Amino acid sequence: MKRPEIPPLFSTDEIADRVAAMAQEVAKKMPSNLMVVGLLKGSFVFAADLLRELHLAGLQPQVDFLTLSSYGSARQSGGRIEVISDLAESVAGKDVLIVDDILESGRTLHHARELMQKRGATSVRIAVLLEKPGKRDMAITADFVGFSIPDRFVVGYGLDYAGHYRELPYIGVIDIH
Ligand code: IMP
Ligand code: MG
Repeated sequence: MKRPEIPPLFSTDEIADRVAAMAQEVAKKMPSNLMVVGLLKGSFVFAADLLRELHLAGLQPQVDFLTLSSYGSARQSGGRIEVISDLAESVAGKDVLIVDDILESGRTLHHARELMQKRGATSVRIAVLLEKPGKRDMAITADFVGFSIPDRFVVGYGLDYAGHYRELPYIGVIDIH
Protein backbone atom coordinates (compact mmCIF):
# COMPACT_ATOMS: atom_id res chain seq x y z
CA MET A 1 0.00 0.00 0.00
CA LYS A 2 1.39 3.41 -0.96
CA ARG A 3 0.83 5.68 1.98
CA PRO A 4 0.51 9.41 2.01
CA GLU A 5 2.93 11.39 4.15
CA ILE A 6 1.47 11.81 7.63
CA PRO A 7 2.34 15.24 9.03
CA PRO A 8 3.11 15.06 12.74
CA LEU A 9 0.91 16.75 15.31
CA PHE A 10 2.91 15.48 18.31
CA SER A 11 6.41 14.05 18.03
CA THR A 12 7.65 10.95 19.83
CA ASP A 13 9.53 13.15 22.32
CA GLU A 14 6.57 15.42 22.98
CA ILE A 15 4.39 12.41 23.69
CA ALA A 16 6.97 10.84 26.01
CA ASP A 17 7.30 14.07 28.02
CA ARG A 18 3.55 14.45 28.36
CA VAL A 19 2.98 10.81 29.35
CA ALA A 20 5.63 11.13 32.07
CA ALA A 21 3.94 14.29 33.38
CA MET A 22 0.55 12.57 33.34
CA ALA A 23 1.94 9.72 35.45
CA GLN A 24 3.05 12.28 38.05
CA GLU A 25 -0.47 13.75 38.07
CA VAL A 26 -1.96 10.27 38.55
CA ALA A 27 0.49 9.52 41.37
CA LYS A 28 -0.60 12.70 43.18
CA LYS A 29 -4.31 11.95 42.96
CA MET A 30 -4.79 8.21 43.00
CA PRO A 31 -4.73 5.78 45.89
CA SER A 32 -2.44 2.82 45.99
CA ASN A 33 -4.74 -0.08 45.05
CA LEU A 34 -4.41 0.84 41.40
CA MET A 35 -5.66 -1.23 38.47
CA VAL A 36 -5.02 0.17 35.02
CA VAL A 37 -7.72 -0.91 32.55
CA GLY A 38 -6.64 -0.30 28.98
CA LEU A 39 -9.30 -0.18 26.28
CA LEU A 40 -8.20 -2.11 23.22
CA LYS A 41 -7.04 -1.76 20.69
CA GLY A 42 -6.40 1.97 20.63
CA SER A 43 -4.82 2.38 24.05
CA PHE A 44 -2.19 -0.35 23.97
CA VAL A 45 0.80 1.84 23.14
CA PHE A 46 -0.21 4.63 25.50
CA ALA A 47 -1.10 2.16 28.27
CA ALA A 48 2.29 0.45 27.99
CA ASP A 49 4.18 3.75 28.23
CA LEU A 50 1.95 5.14 30.97
CA LEU A 51 2.31 1.97 33.02
CA ARG A 52 6.09 2.24 33.06
CA GLU A 53 5.91 5.93 33.90
CA LEU A 54 3.55 5.10 36.77
CA HIS A 55 6.21 2.79 38.11
CA LEU A 56 8.81 5.56 37.85
CA ALA A 57 6.33 7.83 39.67
CA GLY A 58 6.35 5.38 42.58
CA LEU A 59 3.14 3.41 41.94
CA GLN A 60 2.67 -0.35 41.66
CA PRO A 61 -0.26 -0.69 39.28
CA GLN A 62 -1.85 -3.90 38.10
CA VAL A 63 -2.99 -3.95 34.48
CA ASP A 64 -5.77 -5.56 32.50
CA PHE A 65 -7.42 -4.94 29.13
CA LEU A 66 -10.96 -4.66 27.86
CA THR A 67 -12.16 -4.62 24.27
CA LEU A 68 -15.46 -2.88 23.63
CA SER A 69 -17.20 -2.90 20.27
CA SER A 70 -16.96 0.33 18.39
CA TYR A 71 -20.03 1.66 16.69
CA GLY A 72 -18.50 2.02 13.26
CA SER A 73 -16.43 5.02 12.36
CA ALA A 74 -15.79 7.68 14.97
CA ARG A 75 -18.00 9.99 12.97
CA GLN A 76 -21.04 7.78 13.22
CA SER A 77 -23.30 7.75 16.22
CA GLY A 78 -25.85 5.29 17.51
CA GLY A 79 -25.50 1.59 18.03
CA ARG A 80 -24.90 -0.46 21.12
CA ILE A 81 -21.56 -0.91 22.79
CA GLU A 82 -20.77 -4.48 23.76
CA VAL A 83 -17.94 -6.31 25.48
CA ILE A 84 -15.93 -8.10 22.78
CA SER A 85 -13.18 -9.32 25.07
CA ASP A 86 -13.52 -9.02 28.81
CA LEU A 87 -11.07 -8.32 31.62
CA ALA A 88 -9.29 -11.37 32.99
CA GLU A 89 -9.50 -10.12 36.56
CA SER A 90 -12.01 -8.65 38.97
CA VAL A 91 -12.02 -4.90 39.56
CA ALA A 92 -14.00 -5.20 42.81
CA GLY A 93 -12.26 -3.19 45.53
CA LYS A 94 -9.78 -1.69 43.08
CA ASP A 95 -9.05 1.93 42.25
CA VAL A 96 -9.50 1.69 38.52
CA LEU A 97 -7.80 3.96 36.03
CA ILE A 98 -9.43 3.47 32.63
CA VAL A 99 -6.97 4.32 29.88
CA ASP A 100 -7.99 5.14 26.34
CA ASP A 101 -6.43 6.72 23.30
CA ILE A 102 -8.93 9.49 22.62
CA LEU A 103 -12.13 10.92 24.04
CA GLU A 104 -14.50 12.08 21.36
CA SER A 105 -18.25 11.44 21.76
CA GLY A 106 -17.61 9.86 25.15
CA ARG A 107 -19.77 6.80 24.43
CA THR A 108 -16.98 4.27 24.83
CA LEU A 109 -15.66 5.71 28.08
CA HIS A 110 -19.12 6.26 29.50
CA HIS A 111 -19.90 2.60 28.94
CA ALA A 112 -16.55 1.47 30.36
CA ARG A 113 -16.97 3.60 33.48
CA GLU A 114 -20.47 2.27 34.18
CA LEU A 115 -19.20 -1.28 33.79
CA MET A 116 -16.36 -0.76 36.27
CA GLN A 117 -18.72 0.86 38.78
CA LYS A 118 -21.27 -1.93 38.39
CA ARG A 119 -18.54 -4.48 39.06
CA GLY A 120 -17.65 -2.91 42.38
CA ALA A 121 -14.57 -0.79 41.71
CA THR A 122 -13.79 1.42 44.71
CA SER A 123 -13.09 4.37 42.43
CA VAL A 124 -13.01 4.91 38.70
CA ARG A 125 -10.94 7.54 36.98
CA ILE A 126 -10.19 8.12 33.32
CA ALA A 127 -6.94 8.95 31.53
CA VAL A 128 -6.90 9.72 27.81
CA LEU A 129 -3.96 10.74 25.72
CA LEU A 130 -6.11 12.94 23.48
CA GLU A 131 -9.45 14.66 23.61
CA LYS A 132 -11.46 16.56 21.05
CA PRO A 133 -13.39 19.29 22.87
CA GLY A 134 -16.92 20.08 21.78
CA LYS A 135 -17.57 16.60 20.38
CA ARG A 136 -19.24 15.05 23.39
CA ASP A 137 -22.58 13.18 23.14
CA MET A 138 -22.34 11.96 26.73
CA ALA A 139 -21.63 14.02 29.84
CA ILE A 140 -18.16 12.73 30.60
CA THR A 141 -14.84 14.34 31.37
CA ALA A 142 -11.48 12.67 31.70
CA ASP A 143 -9.56 13.12 34.96
CA PHE A 144 -6.24 13.13 33.12
CA VAL A 145 -5.80 14.43 29.56
CA GLY A 146 -2.59 14.40 27.54
CA PHE A 147 -3.48 16.88 24.82
CA SER A 148 -6.63 18.63 23.62
CA ILE A 149 -6.67 18.59 19.84
CA PRO A 150 -8.68 20.23 17.09
CA ASP A 151 -11.34 18.25 15.27
CA ARG A 152 -8.99 16.47 12.87
CA PHE A 153 -8.54 12.74 12.33
CA VAL A 154 -5.35 11.57 13.97
CA VAL A 155 -3.42 8.32 13.71
CA GLY A 156 -0.35 6.70 15.19
CA TYR A 157 0.84 5.78 18.69
CA GLY A 158 -1.95 3.17 18.77
CA LEU A 159 -4.63 5.14 16.94
CA ASP A 160 -5.81 3.73 13.65
CA TYR A 161 -7.57 4.57 10.47
CA ALA A 162 -9.36 1.42 9.23
CA GLY A 163 -6.89 -0.76 11.14
CA HIS A 164 -3.75 0.93 9.83
CA TYR A 165 -1.15 3.37 11.18
CA ARG A 166 -1.21 2.15 14.79
CA GLU A 167 2.54 1.51 14.56
CA LEU A 168 3.54 5.11 13.78
CA PRO A 169 5.82 6.25 16.62
CA TYR A 170 4.26 9.74 16.62
CA ILE A 171 0.76 11.18 16.27
CA GLY A 172 -0.07 12.55 12.84
CA VAL A 173 -3.04 13.97 11.02
CA ILE A 174 -4.74 12.43 8.04
CA ASP A 175 -7.50 14.03 6.06
CA ILE A 176 -10.25 11.54 5.40
CA HIS A 177 -13.13 12.39 3.17
P1 IMP B 1 -15.89 8.08 21.45
O1 IMP B 1 -16.56 6.85 21.99
O2 IMP B 1 -16.69 8.78 20.39
O3 IMP B 1 -15.38 9.02 22.51
O4 IMP B 1 -14.68 7.60 20.56
C1 IMP B 1 -13.56 7.08 21.06
C2 IMP B 1 -12.96 6.17 20.01
O5 IMP B 1 -13.15 6.66 18.67
C3 IMP B 1 -11.48 6.13 20.20
O6 IMP B 1 -11.10 5.14 21.13
C4 IMP B 1 -10.98 5.83 18.80
O7 IMP B 1 -11.03 4.44 18.56
C5 IMP B 1 -11.99 6.50 17.89
N1 IMP B 1 -11.52 7.81 17.42
C6 IMP B 1 -12.10 9.01 17.65
N2 IMP B 1 -11.42 10.00 17.04
C7 IMP B 1 -10.38 9.40 16.41
C8 IMP B 1 -9.28 9.91 15.60
O8 IMP B 1 -9.12 11.11 15.33
N3 IMP B 1 -8.41 8.98 15.14
C9 IMP B 1 -8.51 7.65 15.40
N4 IMP B 1 -9.52 7.14 16.15
C10 IMP B 1 -10.44 8.00 16.65
MG1 MG C 1 -10.58 3.05 20.22
